[in-house]
Amino acid sequence: MAAKFEMNVSDLISEDIEAYLHAHEHKSLLRFLTCGSVDDGKSTLIGRLLYDSKMIFEDQLAALEADSKKIGTQGGEIDFALLVDGLAAEREQGITIDVAYRFFSTDKRKFIVADTPGHEQYTRNMVTGASTADAAIILIDARKGVLTQTRRHSYLVSLLGIRHVVLAINKMDLVDWSQARFDEIVGEYREFAEQIDIKAFTAIPMSALRGDNITEPSEKSPWYSGPPLMRWLEDAPVEDDLREKPFRMPVQWVNRPNLDFRGFAGQIASGVIKPGDKLKVLPSGRESRVARIVTLDGDLQEAAAGQSVTLTLADEVDVSRGDVLAAAASPPAVADQFESTIVWFDDEPMLPGRPYLLKLGARTVSAQVAEPKYKVNVNTLEHLAARQLELNEIGVCNLSLDAAIAFDPYAENHDLGGFILIDRMSNRTVAAGMLHFALRRSQNIHWQAMDIDKSARAAAKGQKARVVWLTGLSGAGKSTIANLVEKRLAAEGKHTYLLDGDNVRHGLNKDLGFTEADRVENIRRVAEVAKLMVDAGLIVLVSFISPFRAERRMARELMGKGEFVEVHIDTPLAEAERRDVKGLYAKARAGELKNFTGISSPYEAPEDPEIRVDTTALSAEEAAEQIVAWIETAP
Ligand code: ADX
Repeated sequence: MAAKFEMNVSDLISEDIEAYLHAHEHKSLLRFLTCGSVDDGKSTLIGRLLYDSKMIFEDQLAALEADSKKIGTQGGEIDFALLVDGLAAEREQGITIDVAYRFFSTDKRKFIVADTPGHEQYTRNMVTGASTADAAIILIDARKGVLTQTRRHSYLVSLLGIRHVVLAINKMDLVDWSQARFDEIVGEYREFAEQIDIKAFTAIPMSALRGDNITEPSEKSPWYSGPPLMRWLEDAPVEDDLREKPFRMPVQWVNRPNLDFRGFAGQIASGVIKPGDKLKVLPSGRESRVARIVTLDGDLQEAAAGQSVTLTLADEVDVSRGDVLAAAASPPAVADQFESTIVWFDDEPMLPGRPYLLKLGARTVSAQVAEPKYKVNVNTLEHLAARQLELNEIGVCNLSLDAAIAFDPYAENHDLGGFILIDRMSNRTVAAGMLHFALRRSQNIHWQAMDIDKSARAAAKGQKARVVWLTGLSGAGKSTIANLVEKRLAAEGKHTYLLDGDNVRHGLNKDLGFTEADRVENIRRVAEVAKLMVDAGLIVLVSFISPFRAERRMARELMGKGEFVEVHIDTPLAEAERRDVKGLYAKARAGELKNFTGISSPYEAPEDPEIRVDTTALSAEEAAEQIVAWIETAP
């Protein structure tokens, strides 16, 4: 077998470590992903690839042979699945490894295979594993044919832009190497592949267990004239068209060891760069030229996609972490509103309007996802109406960021068009997504500068504009206290407005109910209204349950520094229920009112409010007094 090391790796390493390392350095690297479940023979296939490429060390081999006899499923013969599953034993010990990357190599090439385990979290693992993959092996059990999961995996592969696909039709020995069965599966798969824009794929009949069509053509399938799997992997073109694309480098960090040196470090996402090349800094749009390309091994005369470098510029231009350096002649667009595809993989559903952190390249900004335009049934490819996205669902949604970013459509540049969403409270990565295009409306709407601003309006009223945001359970006393606070302020000649949950729900928010998604939208709208009123120079009282920390935080961040005063009207649930002024707790307990805060819907108390009012210790008048006193003495 020419395309393999003649010796076991450990022999080569011990005999000539230099030769071994040299051989490795100069081979191309193919990253690929295996999609399928253990039942399809995925572990066996990966184990077989490692074994046939002689990437198993002698001690592992001895252990494998012994284990196969003891606990193998192959009647004493080598059970390759044990190799992979054995390597994955750390998982059983409770160390979670979401995606296992395994390395092997042949004479021609190095490989990194992403093994993506897990059933419920399959989507998350697959997206993680696929984000850097050049190729995908979609594994099919010849007895079962194209299954729901085959379609799901293929859809994700297509979505993530992996262009080289092998359909590995495995366990052919169990269908007597039937060409008719093979053709039938290929035909069925082709029909689906065409619909999801997988333009070409290579179908290979194989038995991973027996080693047929893995490294060498098998005589069991004289009717198959294509390559065995290993040869396909060795010959699949790796993308170096990234070099041909315009230069882009997200700035990971600004390296400023002393006053004389200011370098911008990052990994080149696409293109080639040389000293003297003209660059644009985005989103600011400033231009300069590359002075030096600095690396640990000295300066370079050229650097290309994939390399990590530090660039210094000819001029003193402002560049921060998260900015993008790009070819001045063909810079990426800058925008803050997009259409995107989102793959949701958190247990908690996506809530339209809730601010998540969006990370793209080296940039992190706050982003709100609008209600999905549709979600996709990955089996039928139907577009379905959706109000939110749940675990493993894929949808097309508009995004609105709170700052403009430099981007390319994902189809053109994965690094500048692929993003993840992070939940701000739990810090979990909840979704991955791909930017399609910037919404034109954001390009056609400009911020208008006004001559009279917030401080002028507030000064005319002789006050400092703020929001006093009262949060607490239903029946906690928010409206009563807010009303008293407003009366006192009005008596002092202040200009105020009171936004009350029940009242706003009669008008602006009358289309909203009490699901999590509706409450998020309820608060988003009232926060925007409060912001406009602050801009008008008013002291705004907001009296909403506003049960979620994430949305109160969003409201806080909408306002200027010191303008947001969070007041927790702290009444224990038992006390609010005892008072039950509106009779709603009784209804909720009787099951007549769904999603009732404190009973069947959560209330997340503020952790660090500006003011906490204990209504079990204070009367409503005293509470109002406490709030007014705070406002009057605050800066
Ligand atoms: S919020 O949670 O979205 O902030 P909001 O303050 O607007 O709620 O409205 C709460 C008011 O709606 C309560 O004071 C109560 O009178 C009424 N209400 C009706 N159904 C519910 C419910 N399921 N949960 C809480 N409040 C409800």
